[in-house]
Amino acid sequence: MNQMKALVLSGGAGTRLRPITHTSAKQLVPVANKAVLFYGLESVAAAGVTEVGMIVGDTAAEIQDAVGDGSKFGLRVTYIPQERPLGLAHAVLIARDYLGDDDFVMYLGDNFVVGGITELVDGFRRNRPDAQILLTRVPDPRAFGVAELDPSGQVICLEEKPEHPKSDLALVGVYLFTPAIHDAVRAIEPSWRGELEITHAIQHLIDAHADVRSTVIRGYWKDTGNVVDMLEVNRTVLEGLDRRIDGTVDERSETIGRVVVEEGARVTNSRVVGPCVIGAGTVVSDSYVGPFTSVAENCRITHSELEFSIVLRDSSIDGVGRIESSLIGRHVQVTPAPNVPSAHRLVLGDHSKVQIHS
Ligand code: G1P
Repeated sequence: MNQMKALVLSGGAGTRLRPITHTSAKQLVPVANKAVLFYGLESVAAAGVTEVGMIVGDTAAEIQDAVGDGSKFGLRVTYIPQERPLGLAHAVLIARDYLGDDDFVMYLGDNFVVGGITELVDGFRRNRPDAQILLTRVPDPRAFGVAELDPSGQVICLEEKPEHPKSDLALVGVYLFTPAIHDAVRAIEPSWRGELEITHAIQHLIDAHADVRSTVIRGYWKDTGNVVDMLEVNRTVLEGLDRRIDGTVDERSETIGRVVVEEGARVTNSRVVGPCVIGAGTVVSDSYVGPFTSVAENCRITHSELEFSIVLRDSSIDGVGRIESSLIGRHVQVTPAPNVPSAHRLVLGDHSKVQIHS
């Protein structure tokens, strides 16, 4: 069997998840307290691929800090800097030497595929079409590449972010390629957004009658700017959680169901109802933490109620009653207002969204 590599894309600006991504790479946004990118890398490793070329951009330092040489995932990572986000096909272009003549799986680091990619990679290795794409049905395909299939399931055409999508089948950010893709990425021109689109390169293969196959999957998420989606994927992942109490829970507290309390976390005089995860070093006191909640490391939840939410690291929520369906960034402080009649005092970053009682 010929060897397969992975090309994992971890550049880009992450405009859709602002303000969270103003200060952090979008691939490092956590789901159930683990970076989205890490799930991708674990899926790659689980599929038996160990050589990973990682395309990095402006956030290279942060990504390298998080991933290192890849050994903690059982991978060997080689970093390939991309000067500017010039498109997914451009990423393939600059990885030409690294990829050599090997087949590869291209994985977009901000995509989340429930259930991994092992079956897909195995199928590709067995059948070895020229390329294979993954599709999923989405409510608004205009934010994606969109595929049109004939009644037998053959791909007829692909369009990038069409205004009038021909189907609801969006391209998922996992692609399998043979070296046939290299000529295709060289043959195409930049799109209206100034990027070399992988969608166009695959269309080029289709036009040349190459064997391009597709698989439709369920259980997919990407940051389309919708916090509700992010809370949903967090919920899905938490549902698969096993109960584990490595931190301390005092005798005045109750933890019910699939609750993870990481090492160094403390729960005092509180009620924690799973599935939820309390990150290392976090303190929950005199509070209620409800289902589908991920609280990251070193947070303080005091005299508060929190449910169906994600709280990133180093934040504190103190004495504010109930918070739900919320995404709270890093180093955030949520406190009650002083007793001024009907006044809210806010310090909100660019692109923040708040819903307040008024
Ligand atoms: C890219 C692709 C698009 C695909 C999407 C999946 O879009 O161009 O075809 O559907 O990834 O994440 P981008 O994230 O560059 O807007």
